[in-house]
Amino acid sequence: MLGARGGWRALRRCASLPRAVRLRVREALGARQPAEAVTVQGWVRSVRSQKEVLFLHINDGSSLESLQVVADPSLEKRDLTFGSAVEVQGKLVKSPHRMQNMELQAETIRVVGPCDIWSFPLKMKERHPLEYVRQFPHLRCRSNTLGALLRIRSQATAAIHSFFQDNGYVHIHTPIITSNDCEGAGELFQIEASREAKDSAEKTHFFNVPAFLTVSGQLHLEVMAGAFTHMFTFGPTFRAENSQSRRHLAEFYMVEAELSFTESLQDIMQVMEDLFKTVTSTVLSKCPRDVELFHKYIAPAQKGRLEQILKHKFMIISYSEAVEILKQAPQTFTFKPEWGCDLQTEHEKYLVKHCGEVPVFVINYPYDLKPFYMRDNEDGPQHTVAAVDLLVPGVGELCGGSLREERLPFLESRLQRLGLTDAYQWYLELRKYGSAPHGGFGMGFERYLQYILGVDNIKDVIPFPRFSHSCLL
Ligand code: 4AD
Ligand code: MG
Repeated sequence: MLGARGGWRALRRCASLPRAVRLRVREALGARQPAEAVTVQGWVRSVRSQKEVLFLHINDGSSLESLQVVADPSLEKRDLTFGSAVEVQGKLVKSPHRMQNMELQAETIRVVGPCDIWSFPLKMKERHPLEYVRQFPHLRCRSNTLGALLRIRSQATAAIHSFFQDNGYVHIHTPIITSNDCEGAGELFQIEASREAKDSAEKTHFFNVPAFLTVSGQLHLEVMAGAFTHMFTFGPTFRAENSQSRRHLAEFYMVEAELSFTESLQDIMQVMEDLFKTVTSTVLSKCPRDVELFHKYIAPAQKGRLEQILKHKFMIISYSEAVEILKQAPQTFTFKPEWGCDLQTEHEKYLVKHCGEVPVFVINYPYDLKPFYMRDNEDGPQHTVAAVDLLVPGVGELCGGSLREERLPFLESRLQRLGLTDAYQWYLELRKYGSAPHGGFGMGFERYLQYILGVDNIKDVIPFPRFSHSCLL
């Protein structure tokens, strides 16, 4: 009832003010009572001119539903077309239409910004495929699907913050420019000041050391784990890996949490599962119409699957069990499953299918596969670390996390073997001064949206898609 409440407030103001009150479309649609002088601004989604009456639908991004405007045909103008920006003043009245609560009886219609409908790539009443609108990163937010996506993204962002704040986590702004490569995979974008790079004969670095766009805020959260017990960060993350796949981006958002005084992967998995379920329930209840659009036209059956998933515990299997399942699969994989090798997309797909198309935690990965910071399980002969990946149907890896190596000697010898001792002196120091067992995880925000909405291509859940490396908006 948020819109309605806003509407009430505005309508109360309306009674005392002679001037027209400006309402958002969402507020106008949710208003409980008629109002005399109302202004609505937005973009025309449809124009239907009849002999006796002119019908418009106005949308301003506040809801999927547009507001019906009913006007005298004399108010029709040549530039009152689909896509034009308009301001309508009139009376808000009960709508005789069964599907709509209120409508606006226009007294004046002002075309604020005309739209050249012949060259405008979106067409009235057409359901444009996602692949089509992807070609117009500067215009696609005006389509219903992208409008819905952006509202869902906004609500999901707020729900993630609320989840952590409600559970006592401190939000930390971790740096975007850093000199560490947390994941050690070398997928870094290096940054330099453009002027210096060109002009300086000596080619010194801007920060005196090579600097990169962050691949993860984890190491910075680990710094904070020396003073706080629960913290999180949620920000842009960059990876210079092949972004042409339907689940990889060069720039994406990651939500990361770190918990001190935890010795069990189970604790980390519990937070991942709670985060997923709480945020998803919030999004489903706060944006029902927007989510419905995806579940109706883009991923039929996803709604039912999600509702089931929210009711049941996620599954847990070990990496070793996963490899055995893959080895016994009645199908041949392009990459032969072997203990010690990374799980490929085809393997992840098979595993979630084998488990009944539900989210599956895979735990305890080979020591040699994972980054230096993961805690040694000291097992053998198959040596593993306390790592966890959450795999979900259709997307694959949604979250990655681990217990961190809090024991100084273990960390020292691992960093030494990797030749990283000097670079990570500060990180080693964290283990000298009150080191507590801790762990955490990161969840890719776009992959999360991809999964809950059933969207095939990750480029369709970001505000600005890059459809080639040579075109950045
Ligand atoms: O598994 P990753 O690499 O984990 C980390 O970076 C840890 N340091 C996080 C932590 O423990 N604090 O990345 C975490 C998640 C992945 O599971 C995936 O969902 C997403 O980030 N991700 C990407 N999403 C879109 N495009 C990419 N190129 C991504 N790379 C990772
Ligand atoms: Mg990972």
